[in-house]
Amino acid sequence: MSIFYFCFDKLSHADVDADPKTLDIIDQHAQYTLQTYGRPSVVFTHGKGSYLYDVGHREYLDFTAGIAVNALGHSDLEVARVLFDQAKQVVHLSNLYYNVPAGELAEQLIEATVASGAFKATKVFFSNSGTEANEGALKFARKVAKVSQEQQQQQDSKKFGVVSFSNAFHGRSMGALSATPNPKYQKPFLPLVPGFVHAPYNDVEAVDQYVKEDTCAVIVEPLQGEGGINIATYEFLKKLRARCDQVGAMLIYDEIQCGLGRTGKLWAHQNYPADCVPDMLTMAKPLANGFPIGAIMITDKVAEKIVIGDHGTTFGGNPLGCAVASSVFRRINTPEFLENVNKNGLHFREQLDSISSPLIKQVRSQGLILGLEFKVDPAPLVTMARERGLLIITAANNTIRFVPPLNIAKGEIDQGIKILKEAIMAFEDRTLNVEA
Ligand SMILES: Cc1ncc(COP(=O)(O)O)c(C=O)c1O
Repeated sequence: MSIFYFCFDKLSHADVDADPKTLDIIDQHAQYTLQTYGRPSVVFTHGKGSYLYDVGHREYLDFTAGIAVNALGHSDLEVARVLFDQAKQVVHLSNLYYNVPAGELAEQLIEATVASGAFKATKVFFSNSGTEANEGALKFARKVAKVSQEQQQQQDSKKFGVVSFSNAFHGRSMGALSATPNPKYQKPFLPLVPGFVHAPYNDVEAVDQYVKEDTCAVIVEPLQGEGGINIATYEFLKKLRARCDQVGAMLIYDEIQCGLGRTGKLWAHQNYPADCVPDMLTMAKPLANGFPIGAIMITDKVAEKIVIGDHGTTFGGNPLGCAVASSVFRRINTPEFLENVNKNGLHFREQLDSISSPLIKQVRSQGLILGLEFKVDPAPLVTMARERGLLIITAANNTIRFVPPLNIAKGEIDQGIKILKEAIMAFEDRTLNVEA
C-alpha cells in the first residue's frame, strides 16, 4: 500500500471525531471506578441485533457480541419481554425456596443434552458466571475424590490434584485462576491454590505424565477461545477421557465460550465421538443472552457424592435469570438455528480464507467462533477496525477472534469482512512501512 492510501482513507468512526460527551463519561469512570480494564475511547448507549451505537449515534457492527455472550444479538425483544414479565412476577428468592423457572431450565438443559447425544448429564447446579461454574466444578471434583477415598477407607488422601492446559482460560477467582496458566493473570496473586499443574494442550504423549493417581480433576476447553481459537484434537480428548477413567479423575469440559451453539452443535464436545464425553460441563456466557448466569451440568457419578450444604450461592438459580435462560435456550437449541450457525460459520470462514495479506499466518474456526492468526501482534488492528465501524477482539498467540451474534445475517458478515479488509490494508501499510 501507499502514502496515498493513508491520506485518503477517511476514518468513519475516528476517536477524534467522537461526541464530546464521550470524554466526560470516561473521566467520570476514571474518577470513580477501579481501573482494571484498558478500554478504547468510545461509550456505547444502545444496540440492536448485530449493531451497537455510541453516544454520538455512530453505528458499529459487532463481531464481539459481549465476548461470545449476545448469541441472539443486542436488545432482543423476546428477551426483553421475558425479563419484563418475570420481573413483574418475582426477581429473586434466594435458595431458601424453590422457584418455577429454575426447575424448568434444569429440565430443559438435561433433557436437551441427553436427547442431543452429548454426555449423560443428570443434574444441574446454577451459578452467576462462568468463573463460578468452574469454581463449583472443581469443588465437586475434590468432593468426589474425597468421598471415594473415604469409601475405600484411605485416610489422608492426597487425591486433590487438578490438571489444566497451556493457553487455557477458566476465570479469575482463586480456583479458576489456578487453572489459568497465564503469568499475566496469575503472578500478581501468588501463591495460588495448591495442587494445580498445567500440561501442554493437545499433547497426547504428555497426558500420562500429568494426569496421575493423585489427580481429582482435569479441566479443559474443547475449543480454546481466549487462548487463540485452538481446537482440541479427537486423540487428545479421547486420551484425557481414558486417562481420567484409569486414575479415577473427573473430566470437566469448560464450554463457557464454545458451548451453547457457538460451534454449530449444542455442545462443542458433540463435534467428537462418544469416547470423549465429560463428567461435568460448565456453561455461562450466552445462556441468558447477557443476563448473568452460569451452570454446571454433571453426571450421576458426581451428583451422588454431593449432599445438602456442600455448595451454595445467593443469586444462582434466581427466577429472573432462569426465565430468560429458558427462553434463550429454547431458541438456540433448534436444528434450524444450529444449521444456520454452521452455514454462516462456513461463509465467514470462506471470507477470512479469501483475505490475502503477507501478515496473516492461519485461519482457525468451528461454527461462529473464528480466529485469524497473524505473524505479528495484531492489537493495533482492533483500533483500526473500530475506527472504521467494526468491533473485533484479540485472543492469545497473535490471533484476532470473531464471535459475532449467532443469528448474524450473511450480509452483515460480508459488511464486516469488507471493513476488516480495509483495516488489514491499513495495518499492513503501517506494519510493513515501519519494518522497512
Ligand atoms: C472458557 C472460559 N471459561 C471461563 C470464563 C470465565 O467466565 P466469566 O467471565 O463469566 O466468569 C471465560 C470467560 O471469558 C471463558 O471464556
